Amino acid sequence: MTFDRSVKIAPSILSADFANFGLECEAIEAQGADWVHVDVMDGHFVPNITFGPATCAAIRPHIKGVMDVHLMIAPVDPYIDAFAQAGADFITAHVEAGPHIHRTLQAIRGAGAKAGVALNPGTPASAIEDLMDDIDLICVMTVNPGFGGQKFIPLANKIAKLRDMVGDREVHIEIDGGVTPATAPGCVAAGADVLVAGSAVFKGGSVSNPDVYGQNIRAIRDAI
Ligand code: DX5
Ligand code: ZN
Repeated sequence: MTFDRSVKIAPSILSADFANFGLECEAIEAQGADWVHVDVMDGHFVPNITFGPATCAAIRPHIKGVMDVHLMIAPVDPYIDAFAQAGADFITAHVEAGPHIHRTLQAIRGAGAKAGVALNPGTPASAIEDLMDDIDLICVMTVNPGFGGQKFIPLANKIAKLRDMVGDREVHIEIDGGVTPATAPGCVAAGADVLVAGSAVFKGGSVSNPDVYGQNIRAIRDAI
């Protein structure tokens, strides 16, 4: 996987048909998605439950490109190997999920995946300033994690601070939550290169009407 800072659209399958994940992943990739964003929730770190490593392993053969796994779980460490073995390219853990984020990031890289760190909206950029050499991706949450379809929280200053902190390092800056054609441009202008979008990509479409996914993805791309 070569690094680049071009803008990538990463639909979140949290807004897909849960009975049809394989076909949904194939449909969004065929319609122009760059990455597939996979939201894992435990009902403990966040007030919602989705699925675990077995589901990630099941959908992996249906994704040609990057599988970007966002863990909203605590603890994280006991499950890292299972998600790496499920074929995750990126495994992202929350800085708020426990006292040992550095150990977690090392374990993710040690398992052969790229390491991401996520920040809740209330967590300052400075929380991760000493982790810059230990990460491959920063996920800036622009909603409180747990649900799709929430209102975007503007955090352009924080994104810009993180972009400065990253400097020349090969670290992606990903925005997650409330991304739409209206909110995406400010994120990219501030320095983001990966845009997660759940409801904005899946709304109005289905595996039998996948052109809508393509229109929705293009609407975000055209806006930036
Ligand atoms: C929120 C998840 C997001 C979510 C985004 O907890 O991490 O990935 O699915 O959904 P939208 O784009 O609908 O805000
Ligand atoms: Zn997410």
